[in-house]
Amino acid sequence: MKPKVGILISGRGSNMVSLVEAMQSGAVEGEPVLVLSNEPEAPGLAKADELGVATAVIDHRDSASRREHDEKMLERLHETGAEWVCLAGYMRILSPAFVKAYRNRILNIHPSLLPAFAGVHAQRQAWDYGVKITGVTVHLVDEQLDHGPILAQRAMELEEGETLEQMEARLLKIEHDLYPEALSKALSRAWTLNGRRIE
Ligand code: GRF
Repeated sequence: MKPKVGILISGRGSNMVSLVEAMQSGAVEGEPVLVLSNEPEAPGLAKADELGVATAVIDHRDSASRREHDEKMLERLHETGAEWVCLAGYMRILSPAFVKAYRNRILNIHPSLLPAFAGVHAQRQAWDYGVKITGVTVHLVDEQLDHGPILAQRAMELEEGETLEQMEARLLKIEHDLYPEALSKALSRAWTLNGRRIE
């Protein structure tokens, strides 16, 4: 049986699409069981629907606390049998209870070479800093923002005269390649966690 994967989104969902397509084509040995959004208007929901993946909306504004919202999400994920969770442009911090429920089985993608430029607008942060090399990181999620053990990273050199928008577009292409690769590695379980090192 392929491991079951739930994907959390808040918006566009392009990384979600690349993950689902990689699983549906067999490139990644996993089964996408649910695309869950906290935003009812997330464009990614329709894309998941087109790909034939079950979707759900759990609006965080309907819960009194982060913990309550996360409990609702956990309940839905458990109903689908999801064993792994991928954050794909999910714009909220997970509660410690959520992280604990899926300890070392939650992945996140971040558009910078962590630990540089954690947080929102990572591409712009890197751009404003004037870096000549940036990149993409896929990591396991722990209780701190953009912080857990690193599964995969890919670096990219900036081109002469490149605009922020061009840099972002090239990074996004890398994200779409790197996230399925990293998920495949995670699901293979052919790794061990040594401190924060994935070996
Ligand atoms: C991506 O840049 C991802 O790295 C970041 O949020 C963005 C989401 O884009 N966490 P999309 O919704 O996957 O298109």
